[in-house]
Amino acid sequence: MSNQHEEHESSHKPPVRKEMSRRQFLTYTLGGATAFMAAGVTLPMVRFAVDPILQKKGEGAFVKVVEISKITSEPQEFTFELKQQDGWYLSTANLTAWIRKDESGKIYALSPICKHLGCTIGWNNDKNFPDEYHCPCHGAHYTKEGKQLAVASKPLDEYKVMLKDDWVYLGEIIPNTIVK
Ligand code: FES
Repeated sequence: MSNQHEEHESSHKPPVRKEMSRRQFLTYTLGGATAFMAAGVTLPMVRFAVDPILQKKGEGAFVKVVEISKITSEPQEFTFELKQQDGWYLSTANLTAWIRKDESGKIYALSPICKHLGCTIGWNNDKNFPDEYHCPCHGAHYTKEGKQLAVASKPLDEYKVMLKDDWVYLGEIIPNTIVK
């Protein structure tokens, strides 16, 4: 009878609450505070370091190069400066473009970088290849539109062109879109 009574009593005991020890309390509190402070210090540093990488890289930036009225059907060489932001480093590159207008009056600009191994091509600079771009390094040559005729495996790249207020602006270099 007494056993039954004890069993009955124990089944009605309130559940024992596990108390947090002082040590656990201090560990959790200090740990949380440290993590919070570390995040407060680290996140701005990470953002500072990564910000320039995440920013769009001057996409759509065009440089004013030459008046439209100066462009002829004969390719002409023009040089211009391009300011480049690489992370926190600002530099200025001197670039060259061969610009002409085609029979329909469309203006385009070719990169002077040979598509064989990267030497600099010139226009009409070899008497064996009149009215062509020619590379002095290994003899690649190209048509007015930049189509490769020998040695190189691809046509010359071109610059993005924007015409505004009587001026030719050049943008980023893209694969040739003129040569079919
Ligand atoms: S780099 Fe131009 S032909 Fe080789």
